[in-house]
Parts: sequence; structure tokens; C-alpha cells
Amino acid sequence: MVFQTHKELSTKIESLKNENLKIGFVPTMGALHDGHISLMQEAMKSNDILVVSIFVNPTQFDNASDLSQYPRTVKNDTNLIYNHFGKANVMIYTPNVEDIYGNNAVAKSYKYDGLEQVMEGANRPGHFDGVGTILEFLFQKVRPDHAYFGEKDFQQLQIVKKLVEKLHSPVKIIGCPIKREPHGLA
Ligand code: PAF
Repeated sequence: MVFQTHKELSTKIESLKNENLKIGFVPTMGALHDGHISLMQEAMKSNDILVVSIFVNPTQFDNASDLSQYPRTVKNDTNLIYNHFGKANVMIYTPNVEDIYGNNAVAKSYKYDGLEQVMEGANRPGHFDGVGTILEFLFQKVRPDHAYFGEKDFQQLQIVKKLVEKLHSPVKIIGCPIKREPHGLA
């Protein structure tokens, strides 16, 4: 089932929680590829329900043209997920910016004990504040038991682990190995 608002999503999540079903969550910005599918496969193995979010998060872009040019292929993405996993135990959340941010799309500020100041974080100021803001929101609404991230984005994975530690969030973060194309592209 596809949910466009967090209100509808939360209502459904509440009933799944009441049934004690385990929720595996894969947050994405869409334009799905095999790497995402492999995260979803992992989620399906250890949970009763797969939740995938598809949302191009404006607050993690430090460049307006990157944001406007980011591919938005929600229809294809939704079909791809259903083709792989069927519809029965799959929930897809495709909010618009307003559903997440109201009329004020700004990031909160996070301290990740310095992790944000090195590597990619050093070149993209505010990027990981945007990532933290969207993930804090999504974890609150989806209430996953497990959330899956690629080890390809190594720094992001470390930061997400730090985020849930600081938020005292019960979600368990699972890092998954890099999936490579035959010619080596991650
Ligand atoms: O890795 C991504 O695609 C994004 O940073 C995430 C985790 C979906 C947050 O918008």
C-alpha cells in the first residue's frame, strides 16, 4: 500500500505494532537500483513488514540545482518494489515536502561527536543535519525494529548509528555490504 501522509502511515503502523509485527525500514530518495533492492531483501529476511520511504529530502542538499535535478521516479520505483516483493507485506511512504516540513523546510542541528566534520561532511556543510532531520522524523513515524543502510555510504552509516544513540531511539541500524555491478560500480 502507498501512503502519502504521515498521518495515514502512523495509523497503519499503530495497528501493526498492536499485532506485534516486526517492521524493517529502508529509507530512500528514490531512483531505486539493485543496491536498494538488496537492502530491502535483507529487511524482508528478518521482519514481517517492509516499509520503504521515497522522499527527495531538500534539507540535505547544499546546492539548489542538485536538488532540482535529482531524479524523481516514484511510479517506477513503486512498481520495482512491488515486482520484487509483492504487495502483501510492503508499505511505501511517498510524502511531499509539506507533509514532512510544513511550510518551513529547514534542518535541525545535530552533534555527532565530530563525525560530521570529516570526509564528506567537511565539504558539504549542513548535509548531515538534513540527513538527521529527515531520519529522526521517519524513525518516529515508521517506528521500525530495524533500519537498513548501505555500507557504501560509510560516513552516513556511522552518523546514523550516532544519531539513534543520541536520540535514545530503539531502532537497530543494520549496515549492509556494498553491492557492485559486474564492472565494479558500487
Ligand atoms: O542515503 C540516502 O538516500 C539518504 O541520505 C537518506 C538516508 C534516504 C535520507 O534522506
